[in-house]
Order: sequence, then C-alpha cells, then structure tokens
Amino acid sequence: MAQYDVIVIGAGPGGYVCAIRAAQLGLKVACVEGRETLGGTCLNIGCIPSKALLHASHMAHEVGENFAALGIKIAAPKIDWAQMQAFKAEVVGQNVKGVEFLFKKNKIDWLKGWAELPAPGQVKVGDEIHQAKHIVLATGSEAASLPGVTVDEVNVVTSTGALSLPKIPKTMVVIGGGVIGLELGSVYARLGTKVTVVEFLDTLIPGADAEVQRTFARLLKRQGLEIITGAAVQSVETARGKSKVLYQLRKDGKEATLDADVVLLATGRRPYTKGLGLEALGVKLSPRGQIETDAQWRTNIPGLYAIGDVIAGPMLAHKAEDEGMAVAEVIAGQHGHVNYGVIPGVVYTAPEVASVGETEESLKAAGRAYKAGKFSFMGNGRARASQVGEGFVKILADKETDRILGAHIIGPAAGELIHEICVAMEFGAAAEDLARTCHAHPTYSEAVREAALACGEGAIHA
Ligand code: NAI
Repeated sequence: MAQYDVIVIGAGPGGYVCAIRAAQLGLKVACVEGRETLGGTCLNIGCIPSKALLHASHMAHEVGENFAALGIKIAAPKIDWAQMQAFKAEVVGQNVKGVEFLFKKNKIDWLKGWAELPAPGQVKVGDEIHQAKHIVLATGSEAASLPGVTVDEVNVVTSTGALSLPKIPKTMVVIGGGVIGLELGSVYARLGTKVTVVEFLDTLIPGADAEVQRTFARLLKRQGLEIITGAAVQSVETARGKSKVLYQLRKDGKEATLDADVVLLATGRRPYTKGLGLEALGVKLSPRGQIETDAQWRTNIPGLYAIGDVIAGPMLAHKAEDEGMAVAEVIAGQHGHVNYGVIPGVVYTAPEVASVGETEESLKAAGRAYKAGKFSFMGNGRARASQVGEGFVKILADKETDRILGAHIIGPAAGELIHEICVAMEFGAAAEDLARTCHAHPTYSEAVREAALACGEGAIHA
C-alpha cells in the first residue's frame, strides 16, 4: 500500500497545478487520472483545442476578408479540414506531453485509472488502495444536459464532438449563447457554416457588461452568425443525419423550428463526481451537485479538499489553477489565498471579450456610486493600423476614492489587455494610477490608459 502526503484526483488545470505546487513544497504527491493523457478537459477537449481551431479559422477569415485591403492579392482560401484537425491534435499533444514532463520533473506519481474513495484517507485506483494524509478532488465538470435533447456526439454534439466533426457542416444550430456556443459557433461561421445561435435569455454571454453584450451581438451578426435571443429550445429531433430544433419565443410563446446538419448543445456544465463514492463517504454536496467547501477548500470530511469546476464559482481553468496552488499551500501549512474579486473572464472570439470585477449593472444593483471611463479602439492608432478598430475599453472606478472596481473590454487582444487592470486591482490601484503610468505608443494598451484617463479629466484621443 503506497503512502502519500497528497493524492490529487484529476489532472486538469486545477489538479495538475495543485500536484506540482505540492511537490515544490516538499510533499510526496500522486495524481490520479483515468484519461489516456494528462491535462483534463482544458488541454484535451476544451480550452486548448478550441484555441487552435479559433486561430486557424481566424487566419482563414483574415486571408479571405481582410488581405485585399492591405494590398495582398490572394485567391480565396481553401480549407483542408483534415490538416486543420491535425494541427489541433499536434497542439494538444505538445501540451499534454508538457504536463507529463512536469510530473516527472517534480517526481509526481501518475496513478493511471479512475479513483474511488473507499474510506477517508484512502484512494482506490484499479485493484490498488493508496493512503494519503490529504486528498484533493479536482474532477472538473461535464456538459449539462437539456430535456428533449439527446446528445449522440455525431448529429447533436457537445463541445467535445464539435471539436472533432468529421466534416465542416453546411448548417449548425448552437443552443446557448454563452462562451462555448459563441467560440465554437465563430469557428464554424468562419469556415463557411451557416450558424444560428438560440439563446434563452435576452442577451448573449449572461452576466457580462450590457454595452459589451450589445456590441458583441452586433459584431457577431456582421460576421454572419444569426442570433435568436429570448428563445427556449424545447426539443431536437434527428432523422437520417438531419436535425430539427424546436424553440419557443419567451415573449409571446410562439414556436418555430430550425434545420441543422449539426446541433451544438452549449447550455452550461455541471460538476463531475461520478464513481468517486462521495455519497457513501458522506461528502456534503450543494443542491446543484457542487462539493461544499470552506474558505480553504476543505470539505466536511477531514483531510478531503475540493477545487475547480467541482465546487462553487466560475467554471474557469485559471480559477481552478489558483485554487490548486492555494490548497497545496494550505496543506503545506502556508496561507494559500484566492482573490475571487479579481478573476478575469475571456471569450476568445474576434474581437475578444474580457472582463474583471464589477459591472455597471452589479454596481447599480448594489447601490454603489461609481464612474465609468470608456475609450473606443477607433481612437487607437495601432488598432486602426491593424484593421481592428472595433470595440472599446471601459473602466469602472469608485466615485469617491477612484479605486478600480471592474473593467470590460471588447476589442483586439482584450484577453491580454485585461491583465494590467487585474494587477492594478490586486494592488488596490486607483484609475489615476493607471492613467499616470507611461504606456508605449503605438500599442493597444494605450486604450486602457485612455479609459483610465476618462475616469478623471478625460481621455486625450476621444
Ligand atoms: P454558459 O453558462 O457560458 O452559457 C450557457 C448559455 O445557454 C446561457 O447563456 C444560457 O442562458 C443558455 N441556455 C440555457 N438553457 C437554454 C435553452 N433551453 N435554450 C437556449 N439557451 C439556453 O455555458 P457554456 O457556454 O456551455 O460554457 C460552460 C462553462 O465553460 C462556462 O462556465 C464557461 O465559463 C466555461 N468555458 C469558458 C471558456 C473561456 O473562458 N473562454 C471557454 C469555454 C467554456
């Protein structure tokens, strides 16, 4: 019977980062993973392969739509789907092997198989039982189901199937206008698919800044995506490789159907805890199936912790990573901490959408006095020179103290730009601190500074 200080269950971004940090802190660590490769959903069938397809399809779109204006004459691009898939597989392969290398480097044992918890302090993998002083559950999430919709991963797919379709479909209906639906919908729209997004709520990406939502919907429509909001999907019927999606408009109850070669179900994800034996162990779950933890990721069972998608909070790889590092530090007797008020969210479409902290809507709801500084990328020379002048940066700051409370960006490299604001927020900076920081010219980052200036005396180029 092997004896460990820590056994981490699940080798996604939460689990593998936790294992590495625990090993760096001198603990004897194993990580259980039943998938053939390390990296979890994110590296194998999520963040990384989707970014490979987003990059490839964006390149195709640029060649087809934007090269002529630059004086580059080129024939319309032809898509070699098999090669695009091979590129994606290569990227995934490099990433998952990288994690394997890091495990070896940090002397972390990879216990291959699916874990069960027969008793506190014990992890069963196959026929073997391993002992651990601390066990961290990092088992992630799976696509949520929708009544009336049967996923077969061929005609009706989740994000998993959508990343590996045998061919580019002529028509696709995306159920759910959230992050997955819009990222993967964008991929296929750029490759020539007629994409229709059906969203239950009245806006896309629920919870985002309302102005960003409106700009985003306008730009996606211009890229050819059809968007139907306020519509609840009732059922999907599939026959001979064709599907019919029935939806009902919430405002008047009217029903309509859409035909599709492929239907992508992207209505959220739910925590994944199957087969662990949590019920028998008496682990407390929330009504939504999330494992309940205290502020230091302890469950109600001594020595058992949980992090990432399987607990409350945004289902984001980087949130899981932060929790993974912090819980390893707690286990090692240090003071691991995650600042949940400064977790950025990014949608990797073109343009990108990024946000952190409060929105105008959440501040209004809380009755807080704030000021908003906004700057359009149209006033940013670099963005215009790069054909990406759409969108804006908005910074929200406390009306009295000028402390930054949130930021919302839609535009070029939004997913990178957001981080200077995250760092500023971590340090409790005021908008004036950003405004007084010299930013290189010409960069997209100047738009962030201008938005910060707009919280004070005003932006220069607006
Ligand atoms: P989501 O929660 O972002 O969006 C789901 C959407 O489906 C919501 O807008 C919801 O109103 C809608 N919906 C629900 N029921 C519906 C119905 N019957 N008919 C029509 N629409 C309906 O979930 P999504 O996009 O599936 O993503 C799952 C998780 O993965 C999220 O937590 C997301 O943050 C994460 N993720 C993050 C990425 C990123 O950070 N770039 C990329 C991909 C996923």
